[in-house]
Amino acid sequence: MKIIRVKNYEEASEKAYEVMKEFIKPGAVLGLATGSTPLGLYALMVKDHEENGTDYSQIRTFNLDEYVGLPLHHRESYYSFMHTNLFNKVGIPEENTHVPGGLGDLEANCKAYDEMLAKESVDIQLLGIGADGHIGFNEPGTPFNLGTHVTDLTEQTRKDNQRFFNDLGEETPTQAVTMGPATIMAAKNVLLIATGENKAEAIKGMIEGPVSEECQASLLQNHPSCTVIIDEGAGKLLENH
Ligand code: PGA
Repeated sequence: MKIIRVKNYEEASEKAYEVMKEFIKPGAVLGLATGSTPLGLYALMVKDHEENGTDYSQIRTFNLDEYVGLPLHHRESYYSFMHTNLFNKVGIPEENTHVPGGLGDLEANCKAYDEMLAKESVDIQLLGIGADGHIGFNEPGTPFNLGTHVTDLTEQTRKDNQRFFNDLGEETPTQAVTMGPATIMAAKNVLLIATGENKAEAIKGMIEGPVSEECQASLLQNHPSCTVIIDEGAGKLLENH
């Protein structure tokens, strides 16, 4: 793992953009993430597109996960999140974007997603990390050999994500469709960003703990090209890095 320590969220986003921009070229396949973590990075990608005209028309994307049961255009679906925060703003054609399907026949959606990914080579997979060490929605205990699958969200994850649903008077969905640990490990490069003290324990487990299904992100210790960007809060429990 290549570990980059930065001061705060803003610097983490800037560093992430430096890493990401090398991959933004025609034909690239980007693995993308949702949540608060990548918003600063996406804003920098949008800024670059607007100011420098960087072309996204031949970039293809595959997202990590989607909630089960939310209508596609629900404000908090990850389909909506990606269109609002990135795809529409940088002009990635709809047919080049892929988000796992959280409606209808979920098993068929997972199979179709894995079949598509089996024909692709994701150049760089962007990741956040959950307070419980999850990557994508792979919660503690997920077998490392799983591909895209349906998962129950833990109470911790539902609580962490409730902030997005509060003003709608709704509750965080109970399930999601997510790329599995094996799907994530197949990416050529991985970029994980972690900021804030509530990620400190997860980061400690990921970097200094044993590789264990109890901390899903620890599997990245075995990835041949993984860059981790950590701010002061998220890195505060690290002893040897
Ligand atoms: P966050 O979520 O970016 O909203 O903190 C990260 C995650 O749960 O993977």
